[in-house]
Amino acid sequence: MVRETQLSPAHFIYPIFVTRSNPGAIHGMPDVYRYTIDEAVQVARKVEQAGISGILLFGIPQSKDETATQAVSSTGIIPDTIQAIKRANLNLVIITDVCICSYTSHGHCGILQDQVVSNDPTLPVIAEMAKVHADSGADIVAPSGMMDHQVHAIREQLDCSGHEHVSILSYSVKYASAFYGPFRDAAGGAPQFGDRKTHQMDCSNAQEALREVDMDIEEGADLIMIKPALSYLDIIRLIKDQRPHLSLVAYNVSGEYAMIKAASAQGWMDESTAVLEVLTSIRRAGAQSVISYHALDAANWLQELST
Ligand code: PBG
Repeated sequence: MVRETQLSPAHFIYPIFVTRSNPGAIHGMPDVYRYTIDEAVQVARKVEQAGISGILLFGIPQSKDETATQAVSSTGIIPDTIQAIKRANLNLVIITDVCICSYTSHGHCGILQDQVVSNDPTLPVIAEMAKVHADSGADIVAPSGMMDHQVHAIREQLDCSGHEHVSILSYSVKYASAFYGPFRDAAGGAPQFGDRKTHQMDCSNAQEALREVDMDIEEGADLIMIKPALSYLDIIRLIKDQRPHLSLVAYNVSGEYAMIKAASAQGWMDESTAVLEVLTSIRRAGAQSVISYHALDAANWLQELST
């Protein structure tokens, strides 16, 4: 009661990877799986029962191409998953990742022109992807590709297709990070050449984060994401202090998860204590919600502690 920082399952968002073709374990992320649609519904049910507020869906399409055709298909993996989860009638906020890197054969977050990610031709694709998710019942879309003006493009498309109520959680502050390594295996979205430094932020910059936030809010973002979380707790705090009215969501990413899982598997630290400490620190820094692969375990540990 006298604790300054509260941590409860309601603060968590659980990421779920969905695939039709290659379900199973993920290299570097013990206990996290690529699920079939049916399995994803089961997991979503467990997430709801654990008192977690929402899920973040990532789709792995059956086929990839240069222009991410599957990303905008109304019968793609994400639309079908959303509809299946909706049919299960769960009390969960459904958030979808909106980026084409898992859907392009080259693994980049944008359409290429002369082997370079090209911002403007990517915008209509991302906007259409968001609309297709909203058509199926997504509550929040989360553009993660860091294309300039993506929030504006998505907002416009959602509004003109009758989805004014669908919110945008923008990955506004996304650093180019080594901590995304295991995720790229999970979603099969590693760039086949080059890197993402042209559109992700340099870890030595802090003030730039405020500029990215302001731009996205101006374009219509409802919630702001900061990613990764642990090496950027100061950035979460900076934004919380400077822009106190905003809702901040922090992403405790795959590499952060992998570190704790690896060390605790070796017996070098106690997993549940470490996880709850990390999640509390992210909340203390100023995040309202935390996206974490630890969320299901952490929710259960918190339940145990409170009973
Ligand atoms: C897609 C995306 C990535 C993550 C979330 N959305 C990968 C990347 O930017 O390379 C990383 C999440 C994680 O590491 O858990 N653009």
